[in-house]
Amino acid sequence: MSHKIGIIGGDGIGPEVINEGLKVIEAAGISLDLHNYDLGGSRYIKDGTILPDSILQEWRNLDALYLGAVGTPDVPPGVIERGLLLKMRFELDLYINLRPFVKEATEDSDAHNFTVIRENTEGTYAGEGGFLRKDTSHEVATQGSVNTRLGVERCIRFAFELAAERERKHLTLVHKTNVLTFSGDLWERTFNEVSREFPQIETDYNHVDAACIYMVQDPQRYDVIVTDNLFGDILTDLGGAVSGGIGLACSANLNPEKTAPSMFEPVHGSAPDIVGTGQANPTAAILSGALMLDFLGEREAAKRIEHACAQPSTQTGTTTEIGDAIATLVTT
Ligand code: IPM
Ligand code: MN
Repeated sequence: MSHKIGIIGGDGIGPEVINEGLKVIEAAGISLDLHNYDLGGSRYIKDGTILPDSILQEWRNLDALYLGAVGTPDVPPGVIERGLLLKMRFELDLYINLRPFVKEATEDSDAHNFTVIRENTEGTYAGEGGFLRKDTSHEVATQGSVNTRLGVERCIRFAFELAAERERKHLTLVHKTNVLTFSGDLWERTFNEVSREFPQIETDYNHVDAACIYMVQDPQRYDVIVTDNLFGDILTDLGGAVSGGIGLACSANLNPEKTAPSMFEPVHGSAPDIVGTGQANPTAAILSGALMLDFLGEREAAKRIEHACAQPSTQTGTTTEIGDAIATLVTT
């Protein structure tokens, strides 16, 4: 039975890297029933479409969404981000943003392997706030952070469950409880309560500023990290930077209960400056494809793809050369 997948190549290098991802998935012997959606900055410029409700409705019949990148320099910042990406996260209740960071040992650094679980529907991303007296010298702008018991608890529980499946069984809560005394308190209390259901998991807590230092100087300490939406956004860019660069960073936006399709995308953006040059590394998109297969139950194919991406021999050449090298390795 083939999986029904919505494809959003998007803008810039998005379509190029998604093509390589689809090539690799096919080579791994997994058959997909593809449904293409022309969305993103270019589509918005063409006819004003961002994400109509009718498309969201169609997506509810799909098994997953696979997205390249969206955003073009000629669309004001925020329009596509909020209108497409955040709308998908909110409407499809993709409340987990899972971002794995794996790096092999090098001459001057040890190997590390940690996964960040970022809450994906609340916090400062919820859009609470507004202006008072806009465009006057007395202007006020507020941007609230929304933290619900339900939202925090389901995210933390997911992180504990993930940690329980992993070898090290270690989970770190990252927040800023010394300053964010209300939301931090809710996160910390909930973390401590849920931890009682998982006595086998060793837990730790880091303030987010300290976590930035540790992630650079001692990333080996981490196994699973759970954190709020904005801290997770920032920390995962740092995670990418210390794990071989953003060209390798993959992500899954998950609805764990599968009441709607989950969405899989590389963390990098549309990189309009290198479109068509063959310089885009498709590995982040390919690894996002592996996360998708894993979530769809195709564990063995996902493992093969991850393994192939980790071989240094696949990591040189143009976009299509890297895609071909990985495809060759995963062919059954
Ligand atoms: C990410 C991106 C998005 C975010 C932007 C594009 C809205 O930076 O997925 O990390 O902030 O979540
Ligand atoms: Mn980000």
